[in-house]
Amino acid sequence: MLLDLAGRRRVLFFGGKGGVGKTSVASAVGLAAARSGRKVLLVSTDPAHNLGHLWQQTIGPEVVALADDLDGVEIDPDATTDEHLSAVRETLYSVMPEHLRGEVDRYLKLSRQSPGTHEAATLERIAGVLQMGLLTYDLIVFDTAPSGHTSRLMALPEIMASWMEGLLRNRQKSEKFGAAVRGLTRDTNRSRLVDDTPHDPLVERDLRIRRTLIGRREKFERLRDTLGDGELTSFVIVLAAERLPVLESLELHEHLRAAGVHVGELVVNRRSPSDAGEFLAQRRELEDQFLEMLTGKLPGIPVTELPLLPGELVGAEAVGRFADMLD
Ligand SMILES: Nc1ncnc2c1ncn2[C@@H]1O[C@H](COP(=O)(O)OP(=O)(O)O)[C@@H](O)[C@H]1O
Ligand SMILES: [Mg+2]
Repeated sequence: MLLDLAGRRRVLFFGGKGGVGKTSVASAVGLAAARSGRKVLLVSTDPAHNLGHLWQQTIGPEVVALADDLDGVEIDPDATTDEHLSAVRETLYSVMPEHLRGEVDRYLKLSRQSPGTHEAATLERIAGVLQMGLLTYDLIVFDTAPSGHTSRLMALPEIMASWMEGLLRNRQKSEKFGAAVRGLTRDTNRSRLVDDTPHDPLVERDLRIRRTLIGRREKFERLRDTLGDGELTSFVIVLAAERLPVLESLELHEHLRAAGVHVGELVVNRRSPSDAGEFLAQRRELEDQFLEMLTGKLPGIPVTELPLLPGELVGAEAVGRFADMLD
């Protein structure tokens, strides 16, 4: 079922509570898709990166090969935040009068610490990875951070696009104002002919700023379109059949639905065996109840169950065996 979904999409997100198996399942699905002949990119957006640990390989902001037809990359939150803030600085410098640059710098220093900045930065990187990745890869698999963070992330492209829209509108107003002021000074200076040449530095600066703003707005609009296109993108919720993960998954589903993101599969990981002693059999019965609660609340979303493994899930071979269980 899960492989069906992966086979019919170009972008998959894996989300859920911390420790439920997002990284393991996302890796297994990525590997299975690569084995089926698709070129796959696995992207970790979780600040607590464990993709590298799972694959026993150093993975960083540069793409590395994990297996045949499977590459991996980790979005580094701090570097991403720095890049994002300098893009924002450039944008704000361009729309604010020059004497307020000190204010802009102070604001940016504060926003580095404020909630939402990491998400906005991560989002900017996701947009970049998608834009480039979709040209090269058949499937992009995102291993995301725990639920709260990710559901906010999914609603953000809309907010960012309208923020850029607002800046553009302000820009338009100040351009008109600037043009009027320049018109006045031109008249008094009688230098109309010179100022009207296409090399007017102010006109060129305005054009450059406008292009930057439009470029960033389009980036977020494209991201919003990609996330909202259920034929292209789907979200997989990973959970354990326990009370809190089930409740959190219902909440995550609700946020995703509100953000217009297609939820294609529920992966119930670490299912206890029924034939390995009374203790685990009892646990399995309890899990069955939580699973029933989940499917009762979310009818119509396919469910994939994965067993609790006896050993540690680490290394390419272990991921391979986990991927075999998806068939
Ligand atoms: N089905 C499973 N059986 C046993 N251990 C598992 C299973 N799935 C994941 N694990 C282990 O649980 C831990 C958390 O898994 P991970 O994929 O890193 O979760 P997340 O990315 O959601 O935080 C890891 O040590 C992993 O090896
Ligand atoms: Mg993880």
